[in-house]
Amino acid sequence: MSVVHVDAQGGAYPIHIAAGRLAQLADTVPADTSAIAIVTNPTVAALYLAPVQEALAAAGKPIHVIELPDGEAYKNWESLNLIFDALLGAHLDRKALIVALGGGVIGDMAGFAAACFMRGVRFVQVPTTLLAQVDSSVGGKTAINHPLGKNMVGAFYQPIAVEVDTEVLKTLPAREISAGLAEVIKYGMIYDLDFFDWCEEQVGPMRTLEQEQIVYAIRRSCEVKAEVVSQDERESGLRAILNFGHTFGHAIESGMGYGQWLHGEAVGCGMIMAAELSALVCGLPAQDVARIKALVQASGCPINPPQWPAERWLELMQVDKKNEGGQLRFVLLDKLGHAKVQAVAPDVVRQVLARFTTVEQE
Ligand code: NAD
Ligand code: GLY
Repeated sequence: MSVVHVDAQGGAYPIHIAAGRLAQLADTVPADTSAIAIVTNPTVAALYLAPVQEALAAAGKPIHVIELPDGEAYKNWESLNLIFDALLGAHLDRKALIVALGGGVIGDMAGFAAACFMRGVRFVQVPTTLLAQVDSSVGGKTAINHPLGKNMVGAFYQPIAVEVDTEVLKTLPAREISAGLAEVIKYGMIYDLDFFDWCEEQVGPMRTLEQEQIVYAIRRSCEVKAEVVSQDERESGLRAILNFGHTFGHAIESGMGYGQWLHGEAVGCGMIMAAELSALVCGLPAQDVARIKALVQASGCPINPPQWPAERWLELMQVDKKNEGGQLRFVLLDKLGHAKVQAVAPDVVRQVLARFTTVEQE
């Protein structure tokens, strides 16, 4: 088993990574837990609820199951309220433990519910998508979407453990694997050039979930994220680099309607756009932009953004948590393997958008 430690101000906790880890879930239940609430969705429940319930039964606590509708379109107040309804309806107390069993949508919502219920109860992340295993389950960002912007309502709230079972990836559709790989290769681009080189060589085996490669990809991704979050849990500086490609990506997600593009797909395409912007603003060499584009494509993510007028992009990107005083701010690469955050004038962004426009605009 691989173990990565996260040491954030809001809590220190282990990430356990192993094939078959679900069977060990009872180990993560604190002795004084009064009851366990598993938050999941019907897709994941059909596959993994029974083994998870069986494993948790060894902890000897009452277990409640809360099923939310599946999908990014349901990452909202209504679903969040279903969790509170169920927790209160079952008379759970401050010693309750919430277990988030699912992808990033379930993890973000269950984590937000844990942060709010009785002003905070403990929770464990059991991520079942690649994207959640390498990114969303780690670092304590929890949120729901607002019709005007992605993840706009939420809290920083750390889990007490992250339990990664690589076996569950075998039931993921190929498109979801590709979406998760977008976040894996992101860590190489922003933080670790050696890892980027490795990803270029190993993208094939990662896509087919070869055990050695996928375990290393998850571990290295979690290590980088843990290093960044340990230095800047609340994103007052460094942590923003984890949002490389996300300004364009979030615009794609909200502009297309949540759930049309997968989050990772939008981030993958957004990283190509952010690389072009980096070339213009920071002089990122054209061959590095080409390497980024090739790796996103090799991961199986789309590389062509929606064909919107520049003003539509700019309007969508106005709703971004990195913006300050109405100025657009982007994560840019000053070289491959190193990122920074910088304000960029709308005219410069327009120049980059024009490079991606293949249809004639009015
Ligand atoms: P998701 O949670 O919607 O899961 C994708 C699909 O796969 C869903 O239909 C789900 O039911 C299904 N699924 C989950 N596990 C499965 C399995 N093992 N086998 C078969 N199907 C399975 O999407 P996601 O990509 O995991 O997460 C995206 C979300 O994560 C977005 O809302 C994004 O904003 C959020 N996110 C949060 C952070 C953070 O730091 N908190 C970071 C990145 C992304
Ligand atoms: N996924 C971006 C972050 O966790 O900060």
